[in-house]
Amino acid sequence: MSGIVVVGAQWGDEGKGKIIDIFSSHADYVVRYQGGANAGHTLNVSGKQTILHLIPSGILHPHVQCIISSGVVLDVFSLIDEIANLKQAGYLKNKNQLLISESSAMLFDYHKQLDQAREHQAGSKKIGTTGRGIGPAYEERISRRALLFGDLFLDDEKLKEKLIKASKEVLFLLTHYYKQEAPSIDSLWEKLKKARDTLAPYRHSNTSLIIDQALKEGKKVLFEGAQGTLLDIFQGTYPYVTSSATTAGSALTGAGLGWSNIKKVLAVSKTYTTRVGHGPFPSECTPEEQLYLEEKGQERGATTNRRRRCGWLDLVALKYAIRLNGINSLALMKLDILSGLDTVKVCTAYNINGRRIHEYPVHFEQLSQCQAVYKEFPGWKQDLSRIVSFDDLPLTARQYIHFIEEELKIPIDIISVGPNREEVIERSSLF
Ligand code: IMP
Repeated sequence: MSGIVVVGAQWGDEGKGKIIDIFSSHADYVVRYQGGANAGHTLNVSGKQTILHLIPSGILHPHVQCIISSGVVLDVFSLIDEIANLKQAGYLKNKNQLLISESSAMLFDYHKQLDQAREHQAGSKKIGTTGRGIGPAYEERISRRALLFGDLFLDDEKLKEKLIKASKEVLFLLTHYYKQEAPSIDSLWEKLKKARDTLAPYRHSNTSLIIDQALKEGKKVLFEGAQGTLLDIFQGTYPYVTSSATTAGSALTGAGLGWSNIKKVLAVSKTYTTRVGHGPFPSECTPEEQLYLEEKGQERGATTNRRRRCGWLDLVALKYAIRLNGINSLALMKLDILSGLDTVKVCTAYNINGRRIHEYPVHFEQLSQCQAVYKEFPGWKQDLSRIVSFDDLPLTARQYIHFIEEELKIPIDIISVGPNREEVIERSSLF
């Protein structure tokens, strides 16, 4: 039993990619199990930045076997670009380092077009999606029309037949409801036939079996979550969520394995909160505070370059994430961004219609009415980036961390103090 699930405890962009990259040096496998190219995992290694959207964040370590499992929606052409970029940067020299499940659903430009058309029509009521076609691709999968990755390798005519069948409803919507020009399925078919050669080396018919065997042999497997708990389709701030289940249970269904294989759920959270897109955000900060966190924390989306909304750490939301995921360890990211502030705030409860509550309201109308109740801490001024031991942190930073640990009742085992791989304090070993 050596599987560890790494999940985002907030609304995504917590720094999961950096954590996976660091612990990949001790891991044998890294598995992506949900989401698609809406994710943007940023890795800073030896002064070079790599942004991954679909490929697991263990890929920079040549000994790690990376798997994209069947719960993922696979943007075929984005994947081809990502593979090319990695190869150009000197990674993925061995084709066996990446395996893609033949049962993952493929995502095409027509899904993106529908996603964007819906957002455009919704105007001020839009979700604020990444425009990467995630919702339409999962809809196609759920309605049992999707083309799976394995279908790419069918003979030409069979592939075309499946493509026409799968795309029929989306094309109808695009043309007749959104009054847009429908993309050519013939040219998509031509492009797909050419994509086969590039992707064939990575296809695998049974990645769930590979993971199962690895776990039985005692290999160390990291399951890399994308997005965050509050974006979960079932438990998040619906309808301002993504279209996949982002909580830890999704690692089991998306990768295809039983619960007893999971040894630990590690959650990743920033020392403050960010959110991209629309939806309620009780601990959202003032415009001046937003400016500070956005600039110092470089809070712009890795996938869309959109500015991220910023807020203070929200313990009500984190407790909800702990409950939903069964989290037993926390990685606290970007402590260095708070250095320089006179006061650091933490949201400990919400006020709603004159009542004080400590449980996260599930309904979005209720959440929208919540006002954050804050506890304030004195800040610290020192540069933290070279600190490798918890005891060397400024006293006020340690007090802030101790408070969070006591409130959440789980250990903060990892503290990140800078963007680079080595800028991290490890208080206990992950595996
Ligand atoms: P979608 O996943 O593109 O459909 O977008 C739905 C919501 O999830 C929007 O609010 C997006 O901004 C958000 N979202 C999707 N992926 C990410 C991510 O990787 N980080 C942060 N937010 C995300």
